Amino acid sequence: MNTRKPRMILDCDPGLDDAVAIALAVHHADLVGITAVGGNVGLERTTANALSLCDILGAPDIEVHAGQDLPLSGSLEHRATEYHGPYGTGSVQLREPSREATSKKAVEWMIDTIRAEAGIWLVATGPLTNVALALQRAPDLGDQLAGVSWMGGGTVGGNTTAGAEFNSWVDPEAAKIVFESGLSNLVMVGLNVTHTVLLDRDWIDQLGAELGEDPVAVFVDLLDYYELRQRRMTTLAGAAVHDALAVAYVTHPQLLGGVRRPVEIVCDIGPTRGMTLVDLRPRRHPDPPTATVVEWADVHALQQLIFDTLVGFVQS
Ligand code: RIB
Ligand code: CA
Repeated sequence: MNTRKPRMILDCDPGLDDAVAIALAVHHADLVGITAVGGNVGLERTTANALSLCDILGAPDIEVHAGQDLPLSGSLEHRATEYHGPYGTGSVQLREPSREATSKKAVEWMIDTIRAEAGIWLVATGPLTNVALALQRAPDLGDQLAGVSWMGGGTVGGNTTAGAEFNSWVDPEAAKIVFESGLSNLVMVGLNVTHTVLLDRDWIDQLGAELGEDPVAVFVDLLDYYELRQRRMTTLAGAAVHDALAVAYVTHPQLLGGVRRPVEIVCDIGPTRGMTLVDLRPRRHPDPPTATVVEWADVHALQQLIFDTLVGFVQS
């Protein structure tokens, strides 16, 4: 059995659930580097948050490259501060990073790094702006990548609008470029599955008891805020840590699964803009599939994985 950690680039917009994704990637992947994108909050904050989280997780040497702040369309109606707080870290202001970003050329770095090494997984947990630009400038990347695992979209409508999930809604043009790029192993981890893996108040309290006063206990505050906001704003019975599942698909593939399906990204201006239209019809001769649409997850095992991973950072 291959026990080697998967080589991974994580493109993210931290972001409270992105923070959990970073923790999973630091612990369970061989993290080549992190690229930051504007999404939940602006690029300056997502970059600083990624740097600070690497410090907290005892990984101050992981490269962090700043990418694009705005979607390809050039404008953004709103960010997601109502869920992630004004700085993207709930009510917590993380300690200022110990260093500057490695570069402000995330897209160029992504292209050079993937061209230099075959078999890297590219996991994206924010809008696909950086990824789309990389694939547009270097279509050959698809042949090098082990796959692209994206937290975005879904088969049952959205969370930002009735039709669109936030990452897809922010930059549907980027999502369309990625989904039409011909990637052989594109994985969509959408709301249909991420809304089933929830962290409730008891779970968070138990984590707090385990983490005590350790620096990583800041995750209790991050998840506390996230759970409270989601309980106030949605009917979900806990915090949906969406982004963690896109990483877990790569590091723990036995815990999630899906079906290859045709997926179309709606870019028209109007109520369905940003929708990921998944063709679920039971046709004998469906259109060629675009992505593996994740449709099931081992909920308890994933809740335990996240718990054990965060506890695993406690400095003994
Ligand atoms: O819809 C959930 C996604 O939007 C997650 O990536 C979360 O971080 C927000 O960016
Ligand atoms: Ca995110």
